[in-house]
Amino acid sequence: MDELGQTRSRFLAMYDRLKHEMMHDADIEFTDEMRLQVEEILDYNVPRGKLNRGLAVILTYQTLKGDELSEEEFFLASVLGWCLEWLQACLLVLDDIMDNSQTRRGRTCWYRQPKVGLNAINHGILLKTHTHRIVKRYFREKPYYLELTELCDEVGYQTSLGQMLDLVITNEGKKDLAKYTMQAYRRIVIYKTSYYSFYLPVACALLLSGVELEKYKGIKEILVEMGVYFQVQDDYLDCFGDPEVAGKIGTDIEDYKCSWLIVQALKLADDDKKQILYENYGKSDPTSVAKVKNVYRELDIQGLFSKYEAESYENLLLAIEAQSSSAMQEILKALLEKIYQRKK
Ligand code: IPE
Ligand code: IPE
Ligand code: MN
Ligand code: MN
Repeated sequence: MDELGQTRSRFLAMYDRLKHEMMHDADIEFTDEMRLQVEEILDYNVPRGKLNRGLAVILTYQTLKGDELSEEEFFLASVLGWCLEWLQACLLVLDDIMDNSQTRRGRTCWYRQPKVGLNAINHGILLKTHTHRIVKRYFREKPYYLELTELCDEVGYQTSLGQMLDLVITNEGKKDLAKYTMQAYRRIVIYKTSYYSFYLPVACALLLSGVELEKYKGIKEILVEMGVYFQVQDDYLDCFGDPEVAGKIGTDIEDYKCSWLIVQALKLADDDKKQILYENYGKSDPTSVAKVKNVYRELDIQGLFSKYEAESYENLLLAIEAQSSSAMQEILKALLEKIYQRKK
């Protein structure tokens, strides 16, 4: 097994331990039934993604240290890494309800399980409260505890605002595609995706290393841009990806989402094509969805995406190479390589 594979399996082994601790919390009077329910919620939703965010905490910490992590250091980085995956589970459980999605990570969305339904809302809250509990348990004596909790609160808040923007724009009584500009798009995705997916893991690793976040202010901008690129890929895959590979069936057209594809299409479309988009975007019948996809094809949005992908990669690389810390360069490059040309 390569080094990354080893890190991944050590990280996964930690999941069982954290789950066990959550199920056997001495401060809670658990019944067997409660334990089983919690276990089912966790197993279905927490450890089944790509684990990019959780692993990023460990790999970043390792690179910052410039040496193998001790057992203790690996342990703490994994705990924090799992907190981010717990947060991710919370966000996805709730996001799937809001987006009326069918599948997630190759299976039926949690809220679509017959016995779950809208109980999933509370499960999302439970997952979030677990992150607070885990952080408190392992980090409350650390000198960076306050900074860590404030960081998580801040990013959690930003993400909720991002989800609010993502939804509000789609639910307004009078639907108006003219609002779907690149400026609006960037605001939504920076808030809903960039901060928690890219800035947060790196910031967590910096705190673990005992570095003050202020010292690395410049990297935030790069991580935010990487997050935008990541969400553009996600939007592309929603329409043109293989649901078998991505593990989820797209809903952006049906949901009237401010996706990168519609923003680009509106910029390029002539009046006739605009008319088709206005008439069919945000409708759930397959004919309307097909008409929108057809306009995307006619405008060669796929070709445009390939160009965007190559340019984003180049620009990010240039920005990374301008960083003074070589460890930080290595970290950012690893994050970028991991997502470049991703299919899931
Ligand atoms: C999905 O994130 C949600 C977005 C921010 C686009 P990922 O693509 O990282 O999902 P998992 O955790 O690997 O399933
Ligand atoms: C979700 O963006 C971002 C968060 C979960 C905060 P999407 O709604 O595009 O994510 P997917 O495509 O359902 O994974
Ligand atoms: Mn979604
Ligand atoms: Mn999406």
